[in-house]
Amino acid sequence: MTDPAPLTKDAVVAVLDAIPDPKSGRGLVASGVAQGLTVAADRAGFVIEVAPSDTALYAPVRDAAEAALRAMPGMTRVSVILTAESAPAARPRRGAGLSPAAVEQGRPRAPVPTDRPAHVRRVIAVASGKGGVGKSTVAVNLACALAARGLSVGILDADVHGPSIPTMLALSGKPDYVDGMIEPHLAHGLKAMSVGFLTKADDAMIWRGPMASQALTQMLTQTRWGTEHAPLDILVVDMPPGTGDIQLTLIQKTPLDGVVIVSTPQEVALADARRAHTLFTKVGVPTLGLIENMSGDVFGRGGAEAEAARLNIPYLGDLPLAASVRQGGDAGVPVVVADPDGEAASRFAAIAKVVAA
Ligand SMILES: Nc1ncnc2c1ncn2[C@@H]1O[C@H](COP(=O)(O)OP(=O)(O)O)[C@@H](O)[C@H]1O
Ligand SMILES: [Mg+2]
Repeated sequence: MTDPAPLTKDAVVAVLDAIPDPKSGRGLVASGVAQGLTVAADRAGFVIEVAPSDTALYAPVRDAAEAALRAMPGMTRVSVILTAESAPAARPRRGAGLSPAAVEQGRPRAPVPTDRPAHVRRVIAVASGKGGVGKSTVAVNLACALAARGLSVGILDADVHGPSIPTMLALSGKPDYVDGMIEPHLAHGLKAMSVGFLTKADDAMIWRGPMASQALTQMLTQTRWGTEHAPLDILVVDMPPGTGDIQLTLIQKTPLDGVVIVSTPQEVALADARRAHTLFTKVGVPTLGLIENMSGDVFGRGGAEAEAARLNIPYLGDLPLAASVRQGGDAGVPVVVADPDGEAASRFAAIAKVVAA
């Protein structure tokens, strides 16, 4: 690695193949773990897509790959994105749910009526086709940006298999029950509820569809989001990733007034965003807009804007890949709160303005 010549794909592959895939023991490229490898003059990026239950196993791999690439002479930008593939469709549940194929054919099952949460004016979902694209990051920061506009805001972590709101808001501990209602936790002016407060995350990971959807319904309708005299203006729901049966059931059971869809600029992610939009449209939930996250020159930019135009839905703007955004999530202080005058906060303020309208 003493060669100061421009970075070559071979050199990047060699560095990545020196890092073993924890499952197969083979190098990251040789094992197929590193996907969509992009190498330009001074930059490189790729995606690691794993099963939702393997994200903890692969997070150190992502960090090691990022560090190794960054150490290469001449390298100025590195982006390794760890994504969880959509929940497995190969888990048949007889008599319940509806196949995505049936949705595509325009024959959605009648929505399962679920009571609207009491004293909540609007329920807005943040969704994505796949995990790891920044859905929770957007949900939390959007909620904070809405609160900064003077609205009373709640956030519901509906990602019952991979709750991340507890970490992103630095919250933990069982909530109180008062008069049969769950008291939400409070952070940065937000009322927050997550299955992560109710159970150990490891337990939630193995929940099957019906249990997951029951937990969500309970958190939605049995949390004291607002009161008669102080209703909640907006409840932001961080939806689980994916466009399969489980997601469909959850969408049908959640009384949503609109959805914001998050995508990354790559074509594969955009295809997933498109499927998410189709899914929400078929159950009558309007798409408020598409956000391009992790936008930047490693993975390109502008893909989501073009896709939004194709789908005839509003484009809400892009959020650059920025260390401050990830650090905010890890530290439990969203970047919108940690750096209210920064670039990311101003992007979220603009998105919040549209969503609040
Ligand atoms: N714009 C961004 N810049 C840098 N890191 C980001 C950005 N958006 C998300 N991340 C990081 O990417 C990871 C996945 O984001 P997350 O919001 O948990 O995705 P999802 O909810 O879609 O699974 C987290 O570590 C998060 O901090
Ligand atoms: Mg998430």
